[in-house]
Amino acid sequence: MTFTLPKDRLRLAIQKSGRLSTDSLDLLKACGIKVKSAKEKLLLHADNFPIDILFVRDDDIPQLVMDGVCDLGIVGQNVLEEAALERRSAGTAGGYEVERSLDFGSCRLCIALPEERAYTSVQDLAGQRVATSYPQITKRYLEQKGVKAEVVQLSGSVEIAPRLGLADVICDLVSSGSTLEANKLRAVETIFKSTAALIRNQRPLNPEKAHALEIVLRRLDGVQKAAGTKYIMLHAPKASLEQIKKFLPGSENPTVLPLAGDDTKVAVHAVCSEDVFWETMESLKQAGASSILVLPIEKMML
Ligand code: PRP
Ligand code: ZN
Repeated sequence: MTFTLPKDRLRLAIQKSGRLSTDSLDLLKACGIKVKSAKEKLLLHADNFPIDILFVRDDDIPQLVMDGVCDLGIVGQNVLEEAALERRSAGTAGGYEVERSLDFGSCRLCIALPEERAYTSVQDLAGQRVATSYPQITKRYLEQKGVKAEVVQLSGSVEIAPRLGLADVICDLVSSGSTLEANKLRAVETIFKSTAALIRNQRPLNPEKAHALEIVLRRLDGVQKAAGTKYIMLHAPKASLEQIKKFLPGSENPTVLPLAGDDTKVAVHAVCSEDVFWETMESLKQAGASSILVLPIEKMML
């Protein structure tokens, strides 16, 4: 497929279906970018923002961005690292930058082996056949550990390789761990930790696109910042106000307001930059606070 890039619209590649697709679309939505979800479509235009979304296989995203077919991509750092190593070994340049790490899609690349097999250290892998869809990262790890093993590249269903006699061990992504469990495998080494990332092509963008990207990044930062932030409202006896303030996690200057009809208490409103746990609420209560409300914050711009 060949595409000509529109001059004034950003093009973003996201995973069509898989572990990152829903979160990627949700993130766009949270950034105020409206795309009508049409599963069968390959390319969608956002109605209210100069951005087009290309839906592709995750493994294709690094290349699409590095080659400049897309300006941006949301991809797992595992897939990105594998593609970058692949390019390096082929002697071609990187051509991308990571703009932001994202707070979803967390998983790890692990060496796993049949449950019943003993394992003491990575040296046990010497002479073994390792099935993986991540040959570059796997080879680098084995080399770093000084272990000579054979890497068998598979494009999918890596977890059944030991049962089929294709390999002795596997190196595959683990997220919840249920795939390993279902296949009676256990993870013994974590060789790469990953979350999703927003990447961009390295070449400078024209002014229209650069401006659009700036807005996307500002909104994205606002959404990500808000995700770990809560708004607390409570009533505090004036006498214990200072003590109560100490229990407000990560808040600098809470707003203190009078309470109609009660001279002895004030209302305290605070943005807390850390999670508010039940323990925090207990402490606030013990310090004299009442009517404690904790609200999620949707967006933030400081
Ligand atoms: C990975 C991996 C396992 C599964 C592990 O595949 O190959 O099949 O996820 O997840 P779990 O620990 O939650 O069971 P992925 O969904 O990334 O598909 P892909 O490799 O085809 O992109
Ligand atoms: Zn994939």
